[in-house]
Amino acid sequence: MLEYVYLDNASTTKIDSQVLKEMIPFMSDLYANSSSSHLMGVKVKKEIVHARECVANLLNSEPKEIYFTSGATEAINTILKGVTSSADKSVRSQIITVATEHSAVLNTCKHLEEIGFEVIYLPVLESGLIDIDNLRNVVSDKTLIISVMLANNETGVIQNIEEITKIAHHSGALMVTDATQAVGKIPVDVKDLDVDFLVFSGHKFHAPKGIGGFYCKLDNNFTPLIHGGGQENNKRSGTLNTPGIIGIGKCAKISLNQMDQDSENITKLRNRLERELLSIEGTFVNGHSTERLHNITNICFPNIEADVLIGMLRNICVSNGSACHSELIEPSHVLIEMGLSSKDAFSSIRFSLSKYNTEEEIDYTVYKVKEVVSNFQI
Ligand SMILES: Cc1ncc(COP(=O)(O)O)c(C=O)c1O
Repeated sequence: MLEYVYLDNASTTKIDSQVLKEMIPFMSDLYANSSSSHLMGVKVKKEIVHARECVANLLNSEPKEIYFTSGATEAINTILKGVTSSADKSVRSQIITVATEHSAVLNTCKHLEEIGFEVIYLPVLESGLIDIDNLRNVVSDKTLIISVMLANNETGVIQNIEEITKIAHHSGALMVTDATQAVGKIPVDVKDLDVDFLVFSGHKFHAPKGIGGFYCKLDNNFTPLIHGGGQENNKRSGTLNTPGIIGIGKCAKISLNQMDQDSENITKLRNRLERELLSIEGTFVNGHSTERLHNITNICFPNIEADVLIGMLRNICVSNGSACHSELIEPSHVLIEMGLSSKDAFSSIRFSLSKYNTEEEIDYTVYKVKEVVSNFQI
């Protein structure tokens, strides 16, 4: 019997053992502050330089365009608050984002509204994609930032960031993308996307929690969120999280080497799971069928509340919507925005896979879900 079947990888992932091994010396013997000029400090700094290069390679950026933070939430706050606070509000005071963004973006935008910025929350189509023509209609010479996530954390739906960036730049706006769910899983190339800022988080791709960051195109300036000792080129003060940075650097290296193979394996498992679950009467997938990440499937099981199903699945770890909202008893805002009824949104479950899942786990999950659902239908 499997102890756990972990299918909640969009929420957080297991640390890769190679990553953990690489990090341990920096929590034991190599504990110096990377800003120190003594021998141990210099050694630690050299390794941080290497880790930054690895992250830059993963995103096809320059190392000096990478800033480390505690995670995606801090990166998003830094960018959106930093750009708006250094902007001339009388010239550009509008932000365009999407109603299905993560709460890190939505709640930061809410704060910006409170201090006088206008925020437009674009609706999405039933597929979860935005209507690009609608964006063309609302963008103007007042738009300061367009912030659209690369891949949605609940459905995996992938927006056309290249196209959206062209629209942003055509109107003189900056383009921000929250790529938290995409980085490390699919190729993300900041030069191809041409974005100004791109956000990532280590714990979503097998690095530890507490480390993430963002890419900032060289010419772009912003006011720091955190002032202090001037680390990260004066843009994010505070002693660097050395073990975390070493960990995310190693993860970036592993992802770059293994991404093709991992995504092929995960796609097979996801498709196997989805095919079997869709054979249950009435079930359907939420979100675009092809424009989505290979590791997520969000399935509606009409007539069964997801909370009840999750409880009965016991050792199978899945989620009903974003884990960040799990204390709120509200249907997923993402699914509601895609046009689902509250009842269907409350009956939807996100299965999110990783490279550590096996065929045995998928088959066990299918067996258990079918068993629980059939008991409900009696
Ligand atoms: C799309 C997206 N953005 C931002 C975040 C916040 O990430 P972090 O936990 O690194 O702050 C998450 C985490 O759930 C996410 O999925």
